[in-house]
Amino acid sequence: MSESKRDNHAKDGIIDFTAGFLGGIALVYVGQPLDTVKVKMQTFPSLYNNMIDCFMKTLRADGIYRGLYAGTVPALAANITENSVLFLCYGFCQKFIQKVSYTEHVADLSMMQNATAGFLASFFSSVAICPTELLKCKLQAMFETQKQQEMQGFKVVRVGPMKLAAQILKTEGPLGFFHGLVPTLVREMPGYFFFFGTYEGTRTLLARPGESKDDIGLFKTMVAGALGGMSFWTLTYPVDVAKSRIQVTNSKMNMVAMILQISRREGFRQLYNGLTPTLVRTIPSTATLFATYEYSKRFLHQIF
Ligand SMILES: *[C@@H]1O[C@H](CO)[C@@H](O)[C@H](O)[C@H]1NC(C)=O
Ligand SMILES: *[C@@H]1O[C@H](CO)[C@@H](O)[C@H](O)[C@H]1NC(C)=O
Repeated sequence: MSESKRDNHAKDGIIDFTAGFLGGIALVYVGQPLDTVKVKMQTFPSLYNNMIDCFMKTLRADGIYRGLYAGTVPALAANITENSVLFLCYGFCQKFIQKVSYTEHVADLSMMQNATAGFLASFFSSVAICPTELLKCKLQAMFETQKQQEMQGFKVVRVGPMKLAAQILKTEGPLGFFHGLVPTLVREMPGYFFFFGTYEGTRTLLARPGESKDDIGLFKTMVAGALGGMSFWTLTYPVDVAKSRIQVTNSKMNMVAMILQISRREGFRQLYNGLTPTLVRTIPSTATLFATYEYSKRFLHQIF
């Protein structure tokens, strides 16, 4: 490999990483208020008539920062990690697939090949966020039980993320941080296949004859991003439903068996119960993610 080619790989990698990093930030600023609304409506369904009502009541009661944007810091940390690694690896996996399939340019990759690059890239982003997601879930569960103990009059010592991380390291070793990785991969990897496949495919469809996909403009880029996000959730939602059902009922069933059981006993629609708020949230978030990624990538390639 020539020196300049290696430089280009490094440069492309840094640009993809940075574009994903900025995309992750933008996604949280757009998505967080909708996330807050969704969680509040799930937790206190009787308090709000609909999403707009919940949004307005939260805004009036707690304002923007402490209300709608509560919990932004951990969401930012997770999304920045996830998307910088995802887009960095997406670029590298595209180059890898281009090499092994003897395709001349990355731009000549087919939709299937791009989807496969997304599928592979999501392995690395899932590994990257696994430890922090695990800490988040454990801290949330601990917080809930401690609240109950306190209400019963017990004194409890609160444990922070650092202390919990040290405990896990001591009792289970480094691999302790990767508990639950396999079910996450089972959900995320096929999801990202369709995420990137739909995104790239839609961009191709929306380009006018003779026009490059990179010139379709902001609006069409956002439409493609929104559709990518929607196909991700439509595909992975039943797995999410089955996962919560297994957790809530303490069932020993595996994911596929649970999905089949729910659709047999309660109907196929039950697998998509509650999908709408998730889709409403993903449309602006994923549209923003891809728009920020594409435009900052282009900007960075122009100035370096
Ligand atoms: C990313 O941000 C969104 C919107 O704030 C949030 O719903 C989601 O949980 C975050 N992702 C992770 C992995 O925390
Ligand atoms: C695959 O991705 C590359 C780079 O993002 C893009 O140039 C190409 O047009 C995509 N192929 C299809 C068929 O969407």
